Amino acid sequence: MNILVVGGGGREHAIAESLSKSPLTTKLVVAPGNPGIETFAECYPIAADDIPGQCQLAREIKADFVFIGPEIPLVLGLKDELLKLGINAFGPSKNAAKLEGSKTFSRNFCQRHNIPQPEFKYCTDIATARKQIELLNGYCVVKADGLAAGKGVVVCDTVDQALIASTEMLEKNKFGNAGKSILIEERINGIEASVFAVSDGETAILIGTAQDHKRAYDNDQGPNTGGMGAVSPAPALNQNLIEEIFKNIIIPTINGMKLEGYSYEGVLYAGVMITNKGPKVIEFNCRFGDPETQVILPRLNTDLVDIIQKTISKSLKDVTIDFIPQNAITIVIASNGYPEEFDKGVLLPSFKKFDDETEISVFHSGTSRDKSGNLVSNGGRVLSITSIGNNIEECRQKAYSVVRAINWKQGFYRKDIGKV
Ligand code: AMP
Ligand code: GLY
Repeated sequence: MNILVVGGGGREHAIAESLSKSPLTTKLVVAPGNPGIETFAECYPIAADDIPGQCQLAREIKADFVFIGPEIPLVLGLKDELLKLGINAFGPSKNAAKLEGSKTFSRNFCQRHNIPQPEFKYCTDIATARKQIELLNGYCVVKADGLAAGKGVVVCDTVDQALIASTEMLEKNKFGNAGKSILIEERINGIEASVFAVSDGETAILIGTAQDHKRAYDNDQGPNTGGMGAVSPAPALNQNLIEEIFKNIIIPTINGMKLEGYSYEGVLYAGVMITNKGPKVIEFNCRFGDPETQVILPRLNTDLVDIIQKTISKSLKDVTIDFIPQNAITIVIASNGYPEEFDKGVLLPSFKKFDDETEISVFHSGTSRDKSGNLVSNGGRVLSITSIGNNIEECRQKAYSVVRAINWKQGFYRKDIGKV
């Protein structure tokens, strides 16, 4: 099989690594890829959101399918454009990706299909927002409607905080068009977990669970980030809860999308809060998570290429997905200053010696090469270090010993990933 993977972060590194291990893979191309991926796959410098460029590359390499990693090309309709050329893609269509691309669509959709979620109010002006914020005594969550690279959500305790967040989005253009409309949500409490299902539009099966750590600093302090580390399986979930989440959230979503004419094919990522009234949807994403993929895929005991082929041929009902019994953890090393301002192009220490260690993977999240060929940082999140172990504590010890040995002075990491 000739395969093109779209994207160039830690998620795509983990995806490409899994695909490269399949006996079904003959040619593996990643665009834009990164220096970590380059060691085992061909990379082309085409941006993930360059829809015509990605289509042309897929045609040139005669791709049997394209695995679309990030949300932006999905929301822009890369799958639809590939299908017009007769090229298969793994990931939802533009209309189906609205489950992530528009928080308002997603909330209204859940309401139409009785999928449990927090109360919410759609606002396009500050007067409406203020009324709702005061009604909730400021204990609420302010969300930009559109895509804001994981930063468009502000969890608030007070009226003032919520008013500031709303004003920045609605009137100060903080997230551009993505914040021209916002949601003020009821703030719900409980334990969070991420559930990943793969669907062919009819059948949905579990492909993994994870717990992400979204805040920048230890003990869940500091601003929200794209994710500073993750563990799999999610400690908060047991078989009963997973079944409940499938019955009340995943299956009604797949069925509802079909009913509304947007067959959902690809990965459905449900971020859920386990409340005392049962699991509720915090958000849907239309793709694998980053860094969750770096712990989900190393636990897969079923060929990823086979799962994708069965998704594309709409025969997932014949598939069983198996997992290894061990746990996985990933620790993100980020640039100092992330998620606010940070430098790029900062030299990284050599970590080649860890590449050959079993049960350790160093995924490149945001790296590139400078003119002299040195490995440098190229993003907020720079590396994610994954380890496999018989329990979370063993995973923590292995992964953190590598993180400490890398010892990158211009970066930081959370020390409490996987700690209970
Ligand atoms: P999101 O980007 O939608 O996943 O939101 C980022 C984080 O904000 C989530 O992981 C939750 O911790 C928190 N959050 C979002 N919506 C709510 C809500 N309605 N109630 C409580 N916490 C929330
Ligand atoms: N780690 C959160 C996300 O990928 O959306």
